[in-house]
Amino acid sequence: MRIIIEPDYEALSKKAAQIVASKIKKKPNIVLGLATRGTPLGMYKELIRMGKENELDFSKITTFNLDEYWGLSPSHPQSYHYFMWDNLFSHININSERVNVPSGTAKNVKAYCKWYEQKIKEAKGIDLQILGIGRDGHIGFNEPGSSLSSKTRLKTLTVETVEDNARFFKNKDEVPKYAITMGVGTILEAKECIILVNGENKAEAAQKCIEGPVCSGCTSSALQLHSKVITILDEKASQNLKRKKYYQYSEKMASNLKKLS
Ligand code: F6R
Repeated sequence: MRIIIEPDYEALSKKAAQIVASKIKKKPNIVLGLATRGTPLGMYKELIRMGKENELDFSKITTFNLDEYWGLSPSHPQSYHYFMWDNLFSHININSERVNVPSGTAKNVKAYCKWYEQKIKEAKGIDLQILGIGRDGHIGFNEPGSSLSSKTRLKTLTVETVEDNARFFKNKDEVPKYAITMGVGTILEAKECIILVNGENKAEAAQKCIEGPVCSGCTSSALQLHSKVITILDEKASQNLKRKKYYQYSEKMASNLKKLS
């Protein structure tokens, strides 16, 4: 796993956007796996800027989102559909036919999840998966205890997650108790992954994800088994890393090597 430590959230977001942009330039019909919520917002803003300034063309990309609350319609302001259109898709020249976000209103959920997996396969797999991690180290909605070979499925949210989310809803009964999420196994099938982690409150999760044992108690730790992962952290999120000095040294040595070759 390559570890990049940036001074702050802004620098982390710019670095992530630069990597994504260079991949899009290299492969204009790239298949991206996308995450929602707070962490990737800065990166999305930067990608929007690049699109507006004609540095980047999104017209041929295909996207697959990681997850969606089950029970919320795409027009619900807390749905991940709404989030993605609000924070990224409406602002770039993406072809809406190539946008895929799991449905929060699917009736036959099992069949629907199988179909979502199939759709990813038909697109020849995800080239680059963007991930944030939860404070308990989760990726997607793969809460602690999720099978590390799981595929897209309906997942029961933990009481903590439901309580955490309650502040976003007017009515307590409206807070989703389930979500459709790509599985850890689905994520591991992506050709490359970028994990973004910022803030002090993620320092413990980041350490477990990068240096802890691979276990279902911290589903992001499964990424240690993937051969092409870049984790970008800000200074605050990196504070618990035991081998922090080595990661920084190794980045410096890699750039020296580039200059020499
Ligand atoms: C969202 C997702 C989640 C978040 C994680 C961190 O699509 O997959 O795993 O990445 O919960 O959320 P934030 O970024 O709000 O800290």
